[in-house]
Amino acid sequence: MSQLVDLVIFGGTGDLSTRKLLPALYQLHRHGLADRIGRIIATGRGEMDTETFRTEAQGNLRRFMADNHWSDAIWSRFRDSLHYVQVEAGDAQDYADLAGLLNENGAPIRLYYLATLPSLYGTICQHLDAAGAVNDHSRVVLEKPLGHDLDSCRAINEDVAQVFSEESTFRIDHYLGKETVQNLLAVRFGNPLLHPVWKNTFVDNVQITVAEEIGVEGRGSYYAKTGALRDMVQNHLLQVLSIVAMEPPASLDASDIRDEKMKVLRCLQPITAANVKACTVRGRYDAGAVAGQPVKGFLEEAEYKDAENTETFVALKATINNWRWAGVPFYLRTGKRLSRRYSEIVIEFKKQPFSLFANDPNELTNKLVIRLQPDETITMHTLNKKPGLTRNLRLQPVELHLTDDRSDKNDSYDAYERLLLDAINGDQTLFMRRDEVETAWRWIDTIIEAWDETAMPVKSYNSGTMGPNASTALTARDDRSWYE
Ligand SMILES: NC(=O)c1ccc[n+]([C@@H]2O[C@H](COP(=O)([O-])OP(=O)(O)OC[C@H]3O[C@@H](n4cnc5c(N)ncnc54)[C@H](OP(=O)(O)O)[C@@H]3O)[C@@H](O)[C@H]2O)c1
Repeated sequence: MSQLVDLVIFGGTGDLSTRKLLPALYQLHRHGLADRIGRIIATGRGEMDTETFRTEAQGNLRRFMADNHWSDAIWSRFRDSLHYVQVEAGDAQDYADLAGLLNENGAPIRLYYLATLPSLYGTICQHLDAAGAVNDHSRVVLEKPLGHDLDSCRAINEDVAQVFSEESTFRIDHYLGKETVQNLLAVRFGNPLLHPVWKNTFVDNVQITVAEEIGVEGRGSYYAKTGALRDMVQNHLLQVLSIVAMEPPASLDASDIRDEKMKVLRCLQPITAANVKACTVRGRYDAGAVAGQPVKGFLEEAEYKDAENTETFVALKATINNWRWAGVPFYLRTGKRLSRRYSEIVIEFKKQPFSLFANDPNELTNKLVIRLQPDETITMHTLNKKPGLTRNLRLQPVELHLTDDRSDKNDSYDAYERLLLDAINGDQTLFMRRDEVETAWRWIDTIIEAWDETAMPVKSYNSGTMGPNASTALTARDDRSWYE
């Protein structure tokens, strides 16, 4: 029988815990997958008793969850597992209290979820260790951002590694918890039809878009120091890219998959001062309208002195120097206040060498479109004959939907549910290994150095559009275009 796990959330009163973690844990109960979860101990700096925390948690769950997911019977079980302990990250006595609670009929496995400021991760790990709250069966989950460059990322990893081994460290990228990202593995490696065409002989280009409608939403001072490249490309987009581009792994085990992802990251060609202007675009949103509502520009919202040099949009052309992908551009783009919210991977296949038809199918190339949000779908864009009695055969686009619309909507789950369940079960497959994160930072740091060296401008774009015109030019220079 699998052992019980006590889960301790540092930052248990924060936004992430309230909106994502506690609802995901409730859903695990609802889906009957909580049999390994012992106590859920939330920590925060404020003085509060467990009863008050439970009452607040109930109100928040009702606020952030669909009404038809609520059940008094499930809440009653979930409620009993919730506890609150006051912990100030630097206060040794607070850890002694926490360790005392953990030792009272504690579960054999402890999972510490650090959903608080990354600058506190080292301190928290050291105090947990000093309080005797870490043993060989303890694990730690680290939320992003893991630093703001390679050096700061290494420092956090080094501090955590003093207490937790790499096998006990789970670095979250919630994109990896999305059903479609895992489905991508199934589609790629389960279909003999697709396997032979997944390479430069057949693929013309790959596009990865993560578009947000929202602006910086109260995160202005954090975001002004960070920008879209660090906030989104370093983690989500490069993680998705590495899964799209990796070689078939020896097995679906964590180490085999992560070895293959790592090889892709190592093959990324550095973008330096010599090619940064040709390969990257930086943008910043001005005022405009999103979903019919007027919105402010970033500089009006950010109130940070260096915000003029912060990008809220980035587009880039990445090159993977290996046998499979030589010559295939990977276009990545992400931004805030864009025309709509969606995340998508597009694998665009090469054009026909010659057209037999009355209309040109080259305008309608085959594409595999993998949508990660708002809906999770996989669609193959193909061509067939336009019905009719006209003499010339004409082509028309036909979409083949590869996602199972028979599946019950009640089976759908949030990425945090998947990732929490995996961390509870000790499965690291969908978490980032230290070398992956550090290699990604090395590539990102080189771009930022090149931006500094060349005084790369940040071009403005109207809110509610898909970024600056230079983004269109990035693909147009290669005689290609973004799939919209
Ligand atoms: N929010 C999101 O959607 C999101 C998404 C991805 C990643 N993240 C990451 O998740 C982490 C938490 O984000 P958040 O948005 O939840 O932040 P938040 O709302 O500001 O919450 C911060 C939490 O950390 C606790 N805390 C702050 N300073 C502390 C200290 N000195 N000692 C002990 N506890 C302390 C706070 O406790 P009290 O307020 O009770 O004192 C609170 O529970 C950050 O690393 C963030 O980058 C957040």
